[in-house]
Amino acid sequence: MNKLLETIIENNRVWTEKGKVATYIPELSKANPRHLGIAVYTVDNEEYFAGDYNVKFTMQSISKVVALMLALLDNGKEIVFSKVDMEPTADTFNSISSLETRTPNKPLNPMINSGAIVTSSLISGRNGDEVIEKFLKFTRKITNNPHIEINYDVYKSEKETGHRNRSLAYYMKSIGIIEGDVEEALDVYFKQCSIEVTCKDIARIGAMLANDGVLPWNGERVIPRHVARIVKTIMLTCGMYDASGEFAVKVGVPGKSGVGGGILAAVPSRMGIGVFGPALDSKGNSIGGWKVLEEVSRELDLSIL
Ligand code: DON
Repeated sequence: MNKLLETIIENNRVWTEKGKVATYIPELSKANPRHLGIAVYTVDNEEYFAGDYNVKFTMQSISKVVALMLALLDNGKEIVFSKVDMEPTADTFNSISSLETRTPNKPLNPMINSGAIVTSSLISGRNGDEVIEKFLKFTRKITNNPHIEINYDVYKSEKETGHRNRSLAYYMKSIGIIEGDVEEALDVYFKQCSIEVTCKDIARIGAMLANDGVLPWNGERVIPRHVARIVKTIMLTCGMYDASGEFAVKVGVPGKSGVGGGILAAVPSRMGIGVFGPALDSKGNSIGGWKVLEEVSRELDLSIL
């Protein structure tokens, strides 16, 4: 398996030349665009990896998957989906337009920025610091990695340049979708996006989801089965922003990308996959990572459809 993954990485490294690393958050522009790596973690507790699987990157939008789990655990699905819808979008990940024009007047789904700021605001805690601590603790548990931390340079960069996110959040406060302190919700969101991981970490999150909410390495249930099902369904329909339909056709499994270059995939009842390649396509998805997942899906017959 490691040999197969190594071959797939080398087959697809050429694609990284066709993408660009994110520059709208200045700190992200320092990534090496040629990096490409993969880790696989099966529900039977086997781990495989190849390429630049050990390079750290920030979760960025992959953290939206964790925020959705925590919001659902703290509030239940009725409350969460009264504030954020569950419909795919053809708009970009930071789009502002449909927020005002659409009925019902709430973000389209928890995987775009507006929706994720809402789910972050729904995680319970006395203040933002407590919420992010809880977020980190949960992330460490579902990655089986006690060393997971925030990259504070990326966080600062996010915070300084996050004007679009700020405008989304304040608009949502004005219509009552966000109820608490807007700055605290934004601070949690900027920090969760700046959590540093490797392919191995996100493959383990995928394995837990693939295993219906049970950690494959110790049998502990961390989320109820119905929460795992909701999260995987939202990933499948909305996880790759306005390229979610194409990803479903070409890869065929629930996935979630981030502008740090990671993609987390969960193959139900089989495995979690983490890929990383910071060169992005025009929609903000890892160009090499996507191609690697396409080939892995073909080779291992992973499409669920
Ligand atoms: O909100 C932002 O701009 C980023 N911190 C996260 C967005 C992101 O990862 C979109 N991904 N493709």
